[in-house]
Amino acid sequence: MTVTRVLIRAGLLRDLPAELPDAPQRFVVTDRNVERLLPPSLAGLPRHVLPPGEASKDWATLGELLEALAGAGLQRDAQLLAVGGGVVTDLGGLAASLHRRGIRWCAVPTTLVGQVDAAFGGKTAVNLGAGKNSVGTFHVPDAVLIDPGALASLPVPELRAGLGEVLKSAVLSGEALLADVESVAPAELAAGGARAASLVERCLAVKQVLVARDPFDEDARQLLNLGHTFGHAFEALSLRDARGARDVRGGGELHARGLRHGEAVGLGLLCAARLAVLCGGAPGLEARLSAALRRWELPVTAAWATDEVLAALVHDKKRRADGQLFVLPEAPGRVRMLRAPQERFVRAALEAVAPRG
Ligand code: GLY
Repeated sequence: MTVTRVLIRAGLLRDLPAELPDAPQRFVVTDRNVERLLPPSLAGLPRHVLPPGEASKDWATLGELLEALAGAGLQRDAQLLAVGGGVVTDLGGLAASLHRRGIRWCAVPTTLVGQVDAAFGGKTAVNLGAGKNSVGTFHVPDAVLIDPGALASLPVPELRAGLGEVLKSAVLSGEALLADVESVAPAELAAGGARAASLVERCLAVKQVLVARDPFDEDARQLLNLGHTFGHAFEALSLRDARGARDVRGGGELHARGLRHGEAVGLGLLCAARLAVLCGGAPGLEARLSAALRRWELPVTAAWATDEVLAALVHDKKRRADGQLFVLPEAPGRVRMLRAPQERFVRAALEAVAPRG
């Protein structure tokens, strides 16, 4: 299996061509927001530019990208460069695994979620109507090249939302990283300096360790789903409702776009922390997580009744015949997996973020 080279350095985007593994042919996939970050030396490469946003992570867009790769005459030894957020790297990685039965690729994540999580690990995906990331492959990138300076290009709400994934990594890691993350301000990350680089590096290291132990997501790697079992249910409801311009962020704020992934993970973390206590763990973590999310102005209340979220949980693609897997954070750095907890506990955990009134 390919071992991914990870490089984190401010200014890396500018120097990108020098850091890329050699390849006789290259092709760039990116989105309209990120296209302007491409260094001039890559600007001349053939490229496919996606509309920004989760809606591009679908079967039709994958087909268009594959047509573009074929149209550009990309040979088997070509290299695909996916430059952007999780949508671009998940979709680009999947296209790379399919074109001519697999070409090499490199991920250049430009969002916080992409840098700490989505670009690394080799799981590629698109969404189906039936659910998020329903179709995908394992196709490990040759390199993940991270420029923390790219975070300055992110709209502030996107950057804040990314802190949901950062918080997840910190809980998995332990007290030292959690305390550091709790004290970070979004502006420090946007500055893209040494603090941003250090946090990205330490969060990504959590994932690197787990992926090395379990590359095919059969066991230890599933700890990375902390906050995601609940989070994906919120995200699915949010995607369902976004077109109807219903209030999907809770707190009375009408927001047609819906919850961002990191926001859904933040809510999911609160539910997971409550579930951990209900299943016998010590209290304390939930209040810390809630305080951090509030400080970053991320949602701590969902917009859906508990019954609705329970129904969405049933459709989670990760659900197996023997029940759904929940990762319970018992304390910083101490988590355990629990399959098929009693429904009354799951229901009570959802009350941690239930709409008020
Ligand atoms: N591409 C995300 C992962 O492999 O976890």
